[in-house]
Parts: sequence; C-alpha cells; structure tokens
Amino acid sequence: MAFTVVAIDGGAASGKSSTARLLAERLSFLHVDTGTHYRSMARACLDAGLHPVDSFELRAFLAAMRLDTVIDGYQSRLAINGSPPFADQRIRSEDVNRNVSQFAALPAVRESIKRYQQSQVHRAASDGFRGLVMEGRDIGTVILPEADLKIFLTADAATRQSRRHLEGGVDRVEDRDKIDSSRATAPLRPAHDAVCIDNSTLSLEEVVERVTGLILEGPCRPR
Ligand code: CDP
Ligand code: CDP
Repeated sequence: MAFTVVAIDGGAASGKSSTARLLAERLSFLHVDTGTHYRSMARACLDAGLHPVDSFELRAFLAAMRLDTVIDGYQSRLAINGSPPFADQRIRSEDVNRNVSQFAALPAVRESIKRYQQSQVHRAASDGFRGLVMEGRDIGTVILPEADLKIFLTADAATRQSRRHLEGGVDRVEDRDKIDSSRATAPLRPAHDAVCIDNSTLSLEEVVERVTGLILEGPCRPR
C-alpha cells in the first residue's frame, strides 16, 4: 500500500477521534487530531488573558506563536511556544468547551495553524509512518483537499449528546456545531467527494472496518 492520506470530518462527538485513533494503530498511520490544535490554541489564548475576538493583542500573540510537534506513539501532539503539549483535562475544560468555537471562527486563528497542519503529511512520511489520518471540520475541504480518502462522520444529535455525557464534563455539542457550521471561514461541511457514514447505530469496530475497506480498495483518485 502506498503512503495514504485520510481526512475525517464531522460534528462534535460524531466519532472522529476514536475512529482515527484505531485506524492509525492498525495501519501504522500518524494520527493528527486538529480539534486538539484549536483547543490548545484556545487554552494558550485564555491563559494569556485573550478573548475570542479579533484584536491587535490576539494577532500579535498569534504572530509570535511557535508551533512544534511531539510524536507520541501514533499520535501527533501540538506544543505551543516551547512548552510540552497541554494535558488533556486542560484542553477539555468547561472554559475551553465554551470558547473554542469562537476562537476557531476567527480567520486569523485558522490562518495561523493551516500550514502547520498541512506540514503533518511530510512529517508522517519522513518519520516512517505508512500514512496519515487527520480529523477535524475542514480537513477534506480546506486543509487536505487532495486526500486519498475523505470520510464525513455523522450521528444523530441525541446519540452525540449522550456519548459526551457518558464521558463526563460539560459540553454543549449542538451549540458548538451551530457555530462551526455557520461560520464564514472553513465551515463544517462534507467535501463533495467525501464518503458519508452515519454511525448512530454502528459500533466503532464496524466504522473502522468500513473505512479500512475503503482504504484498501485503493486510491480514490490519481495523486
Ligand atoms: O471532540 P469534539 O468533536 O467535541 O471537538 P474537537 O474536534 O476537539 O474540536 C473542538 C473545536 O475546534 C470544534 O468545535 C471547532 O470549533 C474547532 N475545530 C475547527 O474549527 N476545525 C477543525 N478542523 C477542528 C476543530
Ligand atoms: O472525536 P469526536 O468528538 O467526533 O468523537 P469521539 O471522541 O471519537 O467519540 C465520542 C464518544 O462516542 C466516545 O466515547 C466513543 O467511544 C463513542 N463512539 C461510539 O460509541 N460509537 C462510535 N461508532 C464512535 C464513537
């Protein structure tokens, strides 16, 4: 199998991370969770006392921001300004859940991370991974429009809210989806050539098997 690039997009709690994580482990791909990029940027901004509005202070912070990658098994983790990647609970806190979509809607924020995200393909290849699976909201449409396979995951609202409840924590997934789908820059939507999978009633194993089958079927387009 040639080096393969897979893009997975979908709403909050639609199953992106668990699907991508398992795929990466099974196929020796690098897993890049771009939601953690926006969460980490929101964390860093909130810690610096910045609000999710386009301001001179925010732009100066973004312009000076240094982004590095820490590879942890199959996981690519973002390190900001020379500090270690944030611990999970710091980027999944209530204040980040409440503010992350507002930060992510700002074009200056998206622009400051775009090239970094695109560079992960080269990083995966040069570190000897057999492919890359990147998940988020705009991976198939904006970040990796030439991906070999694009998946758009959906699950009904009740299923997604109850999945998040089971994980604990306060997270109004529908509110975030509304902001993510209606923003002007890189809104959440399927790419025209994405394969849509509704996993409301599918187990994680069933979804992973289906996606693996699509990957093994071969390239969806010549590269
Ligand atoms: O895990 P969950 O699906 O709840 O969210 P996430 O993937 O961690 O993403 C957190 C937030 O980051 C989303 O609600 C979006 O506002 C933003 N995001 C984005 O705008 N574009 C991406 N490619 C990934 C995440
Ligand atoms: O990354 P995203 O926010 O899209 O979703 P996730 O964190 O992968 O999944 C949210 C929760 O749904 C996790 O607890 C998964 O184990 C669960 N899940 C599931 O029950 N069935 C699936 N087919 C996919 C995920």
